[in-house]
Amino acid sequence: MTSIPRQLLITGGAGFIAGNLVHHWASVHPGDRIVVLDALTYAGNRATIAPLIDADRISFVQGDIGDRALVDGLLAENAITHVAHLAAESHVDRSITGPGAFLATNVNGTFTLLEAFRAHWLAAGSPTDWRFLHVSTDEVFGSLEPGDPPFNETTPYSPRSPYAASKAASDHLARAWQHTYGLPVLVSNCSNNYGPYHFPEKLIPLTLINILLGRPIPVYGDGSNVRDWLYVEDHCRALERVLLGGEPGRTYCIGGCNEVANIDLVQILCSLMDELAPDLPVRPSRELIRFVADRPGHDRRYAIDATRIREELGWEPQVTVQEGLRRTVSWYLAHPGWWQPLLSADYANYLESQYAARLA
Ligand code: NAD
Ligand code: DAU
Repeated sequence: MTSIPRQLLITGGAGFIAGNLVHHWASVHPGDRIVVLDALTYAGNRATIAPLIDADRISFVQGDIGDRALVDGLLAENAITHVAHLAAESHVDRSITGPGAFLATNVNGTFTLLEAFRAHWLAAGSPTDWRFLHVSTDEVFGSLEPGDPPFNETTPYSPRSPYAASKAASDHLARAWQHTYGLPVLVSNCSNNYGPYHFPEKLIPLTLINILLGRPIPVYGDGSNVRDWLYVEDHCRALERVLLGGEPGRTYCIGGCNEVANIDLVQILCSLMDELAPDLPVRPSRELIRFVADRPGHDRRYAIDATRIREELGWEPQVTVQEGLRRTVSWYLAHPGWWQPLLSADYANYLESQYAARLA
């Protein structure tokens, strides 16, 4: 990996994974300049990266990746050489009730970013060492049954939710821009992340916050759906490897080799909270578990074969799921100042619309 200073644009940097990536990148590449572009949707939280923002090294711009004039200006003024593109609408349940925003950001926003970066790259004489990393998901591959081999880079696309379809479309755009225009684009497809700064609509942070507030924990269907969990810092280390060492035009699958059924995961979280949280309104926490109506089209199982990134880029997860979940629980217990302000009226309305009927 080269240590020449880079000018890096991280989109979605006030969100969960990209926020963690800003922290990671700032600590391991202190000579690089980082510009964060984030629209601050409901999922964006400036507090995630606020302590890092300083005019010389890390700057924050509130704006939409679909705003071509804004993106053109940012790329040129900051002489951006590398893009890590993570801005997205990311929640499957919201894509089922309101798919429009997913097409606008994930498809059209990615298109705008690719076009702006292409113009910027051409104007600089098509440098061969510039990079655009498009960060995507394993959900583009569809759903596995128990016993099926895990997804890898040759698995055909079969997206099944509006979210997954929008990410699949954006992956195809990213690869087409590399193939047609020679733009130095890389694509990564990762399994479920967890860790600090995760918005409490996703299963793990929702479970933790509900336990702290004594509210029911909704488990969809019979709880037997399986996800492959990866600690977010391990994902950030993988993204760093791909961005700096990956081959343009290539795709890298990233996963934790940690398949866990949802009900088992929730039980582990309940036990950790019983052990680590001093005061809980309901104890044992597992009394809060409620099996509720299933997510429409709920994918049964995801699993990733990460052989390529391990063999070609030397990446392996460092954090076991036992250790990562313990760290995550401890982080939420130690940082109420991060998550309490998120429990707004909008958030309450969202929960009401998602869960009221299911929990009735
Ligand atoms: P997130 O919802 O926590 O964060 C998304 C961020 O993007 C937010 O800060 C939001 O304000 C910003 N954003 C949304 N629309 C925007 C727009 N039009 N312009 C600029 N900013 C905008 O998402 P996340 O879970 O951190 O996921 C980040 C990326 O990683 C996504 O592309 C997602 O598809 C992918 N991914 C996520 C996971 C996971 O488990 N969370 C796994 C694999 C891949
Ligand atoms: O696989 C990668 C994907 O992981 C990312 O691309 C997505 O952006 C990310 O949100 C995540 O998608 P999931 O749908 O797998 O995550 P979620 O946390 O929403 O749900 C995890 C599992 O838990 C899933 O099987 C649905 C279930 N679930 C979820 C919620 C929110 C419940 O049982 N109850 C819940 O309340």
